[in-house]
This record gives sequence, structure tokens and C-alpha cells, in this order.
Amino acid sequence: MSDIAPRPPATPEGVHPFPHRHLTGIQGLQPWEIMFLLDEAEQWIALNRGSAQARHDHRLAGLTQINAFFENSTRTLLSFEIAGKRLGADVVNMAVAQSSVKKGETLIDTAVTLNAMHADVIVIRHEASGAVDLIADKVDCPVLNAGDGRHEHPTQALLDALTIRRRKGRIEGLTVAICGDVLHSRVARSNILSLTALNAQVRVVGPPTLIPAAIDRMGVSVHTDFDEGIAGADVVMMLRLQRERMAGGYVPSPREYHALYGLTPDRLKQAAPDALVMHPGPMNRGVEIDSVVADDPDRSAITEQVEMGVAVRMACLDVLTRTRRGVEGWA
Ligand code: NCD
Repeated sequence: MSDIAPRPPATPEGVHPFPHRHLTGIQGLQPWEIMFLLDEAEQWIALNRGSAQARHDHRLAGLTQINAFFENSTRTLLSFEIAGKRLGADVVNMAVAQSSVKKGETLIDTAVTLNAMHADVIVIRHEASGAVDLIADKVDCPVLNAGDGRHEHPTQALLDALTIRRRKGRIEGLTVAICGDVLHSRVARSNILSLTALNAQVRVVGPPTLIPAAIDRMGVSVHTDFDEGIAGADVVMMLRLQRERMAGGYVPSPREYHALYGLTPDRLKQAAPDALVMHPGPMNRGVEIDSVVADDPDRSAITEQVEMGVAVRMACLDVLTRTRRGVEGWA
């Protein structure tokens, strides 16, 4: 297995280590660019664990961050808000339910409006795949994708990679099984892109109805038998059944789904003895994962994933606004 190509030693003049204006997906990022964001996030973990007085840095002071979430969210919205505030930005959350979107305003008009308010960074979640790229094309400031349809959720993949790297000491060479509703999952897509780029062996595991056709072209192996799919895996990443994206009978009852694809303590015995259990949340306890497994501090990294989310989002907000802030070497 080849090592991750190192960051080019001499960055050509005018090109900084993360030459992207937006973060709309993992697609298009070089492996060393992913590693650069993970390295940048490390510094914020310690700061976030510090005392209330120490938990701030003011590098985004004076900048306006708009969070426009057109879909429900708990962790992603809160952690983007906390991340911006810890860095000193003025953070504004657009209340979509009370916005003109409900009066039929188009996405483009909303984007133009946000732009006219001189936002310095916009974070968007939208139910339509590709909506974030559309907005990124229309505004002058960096745009971060907080999840678009079933397409991508890049900061989730980054926080997952950071969690794995910290708990396992590496990503390269690990076997990661991504299990459940892969078909509707932007988390699965972004994780497949990032983990294969970082040279992990990725398996997708789930019922045939919930595995996208031709997903093997993304460099993963496909398993419809749960026990076989997690056998010997170093990381078992569970996904929620995304019923809001299902318009029909993709799965039998939640009970039957649990019997075939639910992660129980017994099932977990198939994986490596020290396998790490992950879940992006929100969890459906008793459906895709049992509480005993989810709440086992030795095996489950689920709360750590949430913690890493703040650090990763601080890193992304910092890195993407460097050009705008005129940081030396980035202007
Ligand atoms: C995920 C999402 O919204 O894509 N949650 C998250 O961001 N932590 C997964 C899900 O909704 O199941």
C-alpha cells in the first residue's frame, strides 16, 4: 500500500497549503489537504478543553458568519455556532422557518441577499444535493457545506477522520466498515472519499436496497451480510435509517432491520477486539445500534466525535477566512 503523498515541499509562490475558496465537499481535496485540516484542528482541541476564559481566540473578530440551515440539525448547527464564537466571529443563524424561503424565495435570491449583507463566511445545510455549490457560485465569501442532500457532509468526514486518527494513531491501513443506510447518507459519501484518500480499506455494509448501485467504483467493497461486513474491522461506523429521504419500502419494520443490521454487543464480537464504534448522530437506539454498545466508553467514540466537531469546524472557519483576513502567505 502506498503512503500518502506528502504535501509538495515548496509551495509555489502565491499558493498556500489549502488553495480552495470554499469547502463544498471532500471531492477535489488532495490527501495532504485533508491532513492539513486535521493538523490545524488539533490545536483547538486543547483550547476547547480549557477554562471558560481560555476558551477563546479572537482571530475572526469583526467577521460575520451566517449559518443558513434549511434542514434540521442539532450537532452540526450548534458546533458551527460555537466554533465561530470561540474564534470571535459575529455569528448569525438564519431562522429558515421564519424566513422568506417560506414565501417562495428562490435559493439564488436568498444567496444574493446573504451576499448583500457582506457576510464573511456562510455555512449552509440544504436538502437538495448540489444546492451548496450553487450558492458558492453566487457569493463573494467562502461557503462551507454543512450537508447537502445525499451528496456531501465534508466537516463530518473530517471530524470522523480526526477521531479515528486520535483513537487509533493512524488512518492508513485500517479497515473501516460503514454500515446501514448508505444510499441516503452524505456522511457515508464524504467518509468514503476521505478514508480511501487516506489509504484506509473501506467496506460498505447494508441491505441491498440501501447500497447505491456501482458504489464499488468509489474503491470500497460491498457486503450485504452484516457479520461478514464487520469481520475483523478496526472501525465500525453505524448510520441512521434516513426515513425522511425514503419514499417507499426500502426496509422491513425497524424490528426486522435491527435483527439483521443492528449493532449489538454480540455482533460487535465479529469486529477486531479493539474495534472503535462510531455514529454521526442522531442515533435511533434499538434500531441501528443498541444502547449498551453506543454508551460503552471503551468502544464507542460517539461523544468524542461531537467534541472533535467543534475543533474541526474552528479549523475550517479559520483556514477558509485567511485570504479574506489578509493572513501573511494567504492574501
Ligand atoms: C447526519 C446528517 O445530517 O447528515 N448528522 C450529522 O450531521 N451529525 C446524519 C443523519 O442525519 O443521520
